[in-house]
Amino acid sequence: FNLPSIKNEPMRNYEAKSQDRAKLQAAVDELRSQPTFQVPCIINGKEVRTGRKNKQLNPSDHAQAVCEYHEADASLVQEAIKGAIEAKKVWENMPWNDRAAIFLKAADLIAHKYRYQVMAATMLGQGKNTWQAEIDAAAEAIDFLRFGVRDLNTLYGLQPSEHAPTQWNRMEMRPLEGFVLAVSPFNFTAIALQLSSTPAMIGNVVIWKPSPLAIYSNYLIYKILEEAGVPAGVIQFVPGPAEEIVGSCISHREFAGLHFTGSTHVFRSLWKQIGNNLDKYRGYPRIVGETGGKNFHLIHKSANVDAAVIQSIRAAFEYQGQKCSALSRLYVPQSMWKGEFKDKLVKSINEITQGPVEQFQHFMGPVIARHSYDKIMGLIDAAKKEGGEIIVGGTGDDSKGYYIKPTVIETKDPKSVTMVNEIFGPVITVYAYPDDEYEKTCELIDSTTEYALTGSIFSNDRVALITASNLLRNASGMMYFNDKCTGAVVGQQPFGGARASGTNDKAGSMSIFYRFASARTIKESF
Ligand code: SER
Repeated sequence: FNLPSIKNEPMRNYEAKSQDRAKLQAAVDELRSQPTFQVPCIINGKEVRTGRKNKQLNPSDHAQAVCEYHEADASLVQEAIKGAIEAKKVWENMPWNDRAAIFLKAADLIAHKYRYQVMAATMLGQGKNTWQAEIDAAAEAIDFLRFGVRDLNTLYGLQPSEHAPTQWNRMEMRPLEGFVLAVSPFNFTAIALQLSSTPAMIGNVVIWKPSPLAIYSNYLIYKILEEAGVPAGVIQFVPGPAEEIVGSCISHREFAGLHFTGSTHVFRSLWKQIGNNLDKYRGYPRIVGETGGKNFHLIHKSANVDAAVIQSIRAAFEYQGQKCSALSRLYVPQSMWKGEFKDKLVKSINEITQGPVEQFQHFMGPVIARHSYDKIMGLIDAAKKEGGEIIVGGTGDDSKGYYIKPTVIETKDPKSVTMVNEIFGPVITVYAYPDDEYEKTCELIDSTTEYALTGSIFSNDRVALITASNLLRNASGMMYFNDKCTGAVVGQQPFGGARASGTNDKAGSMSIFYRFASARTIKESF
């Protein structure tokens, strides 16, 4: 059917004294002052309070709980699967334009009714500052829904073009037979929404295990989908211990697909478990995953230094480096590094402010949790022990929230510990490469890690850009020229990585829908 034209949701700026700021402030205040909200599991549209409770803490102030939530167990998961399979009978037969209307309405509900609440939950619960919450929980979430409907609408329209006389052919984009398991991460509320809603758009039913570190915002997203009209049982909201929830799903006969964003290690282990269970399933489950990264900026001697410095800072330190796309490895020609790059980088980093996100003024907030704080600080220590030089930062303070200073480590060893391992925190490691080894550095970038998510090349020399881009063809799923390696926009840069970074199915594009469809070809003769 004909859709109205779909455009990216306009970004709001939340300037002090603006109406948007006042409304967001009110939502933050309300969340801070309300009695600790009790998040239930939601199975077949009913709230289930299991009594097995856990807390989601505010990473800016870990004495404060953002919510308490009830955890599901294996038997509740079995009930959720049964209910979902039942709900599928109606859902997969609902006309596409009715299903589409539900998701377009959900987008409008976020845009015009719940924007501030979802942002406040993302700010306090996941430690995002206002801007990061706006680009995630508002703009990207809305875009995933609207562009998802547009892309699926286009896919439904792609039909065989040839028909012999007295014959008619078509393709029916069926949902998968069984249910899809969505396992979502803490770092993007929009990704949690995308993981759960994309399979549902095409008629699948979904068991959704949200991250324990993003329960409250994810619960609000569930409630918005429900208010928009997603029927009971189509998406089951099942927080709880990962192994129990996920294990219970992937050992089930009706398991038909996994939609995952999280660590490479967990994804590999799930893939192996799925492999071991193959005999139990009806078919071959679809496995779609977006996992780790060890993303790079390569600076060529022709680059604009000011732009490269600012974009590197944004890519590495926005949201404290907790984007799978975040910059982690920075390669700069030696003479440029010693010349002005290092000084400009340090000067700008020293101007960064950091503090509780609800103060509305800081470029950086906390990292998400105790285990992240310890892991990141441990990696900084390991780099120091290996001879890495801390150029700036390197310290943290976990007394109130989990704050780690923006950190730059210079290394002489391009295979040192923080050049190779994913950190998922505000740390860049710099390798100043010999000026005449640009191409050799490309080979180094390509071979240093197992990941291939995002990367950028900064150069004002077209030949240098193309040379590096070709040498780095398989080193990332996202390649940026003269721009930071984070911040892919739905509808503009379909997102995904290869190698150990994921199955590269490109969220925010039509290709993701193929993975959750099992097409049926129909030939009719008359
Ligand atoms: N899409 C985000 C980015 O590009 C990461 O998930 O930064």
